[in-house]
Parts: sequence; structure tokens; C-alpha cells
Amino acid sequence: MKVLLTGSAGFIGTHVAKALEAAGHEVTGLDTRTGGDVRTAADLDRVLPGVDAVAHQAAKVGLGVDVADLPDYASVNVYGTAVLLAAMARHRVTRLVLASSMVVYGEGAYDCPRHGRVRPGPRAAEDLAAGRFEPRCPHCAAPLRPAEIEEDAPLDPRNAYATTKLAQEHLAAGWARETGGTAVALRYHNVYGPGMPRDTPYSGVAAIFRSALESGRAPRVFEDGRQRRDFIHVHDIAEANTAALTAGHPGHLTPYNIATGRPRTVGEMAATLASAHGGPPPVTTGEYRLGDVRHVTASPARAARDLGFRARMDFTQGMHEFATAPLG
Ligand code: UD1
Repeated sequence: MKVLLTGSAGFIGTHVAKALEAAGHEVTGLDTRTGGDVRTAADLDRVLPGVDAVAHQAAKVGLGVDVADLPDYASVNVYGTAVLLAAMARHRVTRLVLASSMVVYGEGAYDCPRHGRVRPGPRAAEDLAAGRFEPRCPHCAAPLRPAEIEEDAPLDPRNAYATTKLAQEHLAAGWARETGGTAVALRYHNVYGPGMPRDTPYSGVAAIFRSALESGRAPRVFEDGRQRRDFIHVHDIAEANTAALTAGHPGHLTPYNIATGRPRTVGEMAATLASAHGGPPPVTTGEYRLGDVRHVTASPARAARDLGFRARMDFTQGMHEFATAPLG
């Protein structure tokens, strides 16, 4: 296929380009770093003719600094996707693979012994300050058991980035309905691997720990370190994009969790990375960020069934390589 890859010069985009080319596709890149912008219709009109599918990775990522970031998140992620979809319709491009995120769920899934599957709201500042990190049942305050979230769970974006990722999914679903196009949303979990950007307010925890280790500082593990995430290697993310190119249904957007299905605690990740790096060992600080959710782990079953996708990189091996891999 002839594929337009947006965000082609970024951390994930660079790896997606390689995987697509290795699978025999012809890739055209578009990236602000190489002089193109998804928000500029004329740039899209230059690269879209003859394209069979778009892999849309271009986005402003991360948690950001404060509300001053809102216009930029909305502009790059929401407006940019709107301009892209309109251009795809003009050029009769009928396939979209969208880089989405597990942050669209808010908290992951939890089971209460009495009330079954429940959805706790944001954690209260006084609970976090008192070291009560685990969310409780919203009905009876019982301790909860984290479960695997599935794609049709209710969505609950809790920050600017999450809101714009969900807006992208909604825009793409509308585009699919109206044009008969096929859209697939890949809800990435916590991506890590070579070329990951250094420590910035927009970086995920793996990059923050890796940058700390490189400069001889101990990774600072927030809360009690027992919060769980699903760390997935960027090579697996790239393979998921290749698999998604031929998936989905005309007129629909189909979301997929792109996860390993083998969650780890943040404390465990810090310890594995620090030991592979040769120290210093992590410290658990009890600090917290109000916007953080406690556990997010997902079922990879739908992606396995429909895309034939299974994450292949072993956690320990992936973290050992990442401990010395170059950062972006
Ligand atoms: C991250 C990304 C999000 C992306 C998602 C899935 C950021 C800021 N968040 O969300 O954009 O969509 O993965 O790929 O990029 N922590 C520490 N020490 C630190 C920093 C963080 O212990 O120095 C902890 C946090 O408290 C949290 C966990 O690590 O419990 C994960 O944090 P982070 O990677 O920032 O955010 P996610 O919610 O996982």
C-alpha cells in the first residue's frame, strides 16, 4: 500500500515508518520537523494523491504544564485531525489508522466484591496526601480489585491530552460514517524504547526514569510505587500499526487496546531499569500528581483476535535494552 505517515520524524513515527517499509509498503512522511503540518491543507494536498491509507501519529503528547497548553493541544490534535480528515475525503483516501491512547478511559476497570464492575471517580487530594492511593468502591468504599479494561468501557478523559485523543476518535468515527471510510484507533499503553524523547513535561515515566539514571540521579517513584501500567515496546507499537492497515470495517471506527496484557508496577519498572543501568536504585517518595490515575491495564484480546497482534518484546529484555539505548 501507499501510506501517508504523519508524525513520521517523531519517536513512534520513526519506528512505524521502518515497520511499514519492512512489510513492503511505500511510505510518505509528513512532520513539522521536516517542513509539513497536518493543519495545513496545502501540505496535505501535496502528499495525499495516490495514497491508500493514512497512519496518523502526529500529535502533541503528554500531560503538559498547565492550562496555557490547552490551545496547542486543541490545535495540533483536534484541528489537525479535522484538516487531515477533510483532505482525505477530498482525495478519496478511505483508510485511517489513528494513534489513540489508553488515557481515554480515565481510571482502568475495577471490581468491587459487592457491586461488581465499578468506575471510581478522581481520587481526592486529602486521600492522596494521607497515602490512601487505592481508589475505593464509589458505592460502599470497599477495597477494589483492578481488572482488565475492554474497548467498549465508558470513556472518561481527565486531562487536555486525553480529551483531544478522544476528540480525534470521535472525529474519525464521524468521517468514517459520512464517507464510508474505515478507521481503526490504536489505544497505546505506556510506550518505551530507543529514541524516546528525554525528560520534559511531556514525557512518560519511562523516559523520566531513563533520563534520571543517565545523569546519575535515582528514579523518583511516586505514590507507593504499586500503581500498575502496561509498558509496551515501541517495536510492538510499530507492528500493531502494520497489522491495523488492513483491519476494520467500512463506515466504522474500531478501537483496539495496544498493550502486552502483562501489567507491571511503576516501582517494578523503576527497579528493573535502574538495575539494568547499574544504578542508582529508585527511591519511593510518596509524592503524587492530582491528575494521575492509579492503575490502567487493559485486555489485549480484541487486538489479538482481529489484528493477530501480540506484543512480543519481553519486559526484562526490553528494559535492559532501553537502559542504554539512545534517547531522542
Ligand atoms: C502516559 C502518558 C500519556 C500516554 C499514556 C499511554 C505522559 C505524561 N503520559 O500516561 O500521555 O497516553 O502513558 O502511553 O506522557 N511517575 C513516577 N515518577 C515520575 C513520573 C511519573 O512515579 O517521575 C508515575 C506517575 O505517578 C504514574 C505513572 O508513573 O503513576 C505513569 O506516569 P506517566 O507516564 O506520566 O503517565 P500515564 O498516566 O501512564
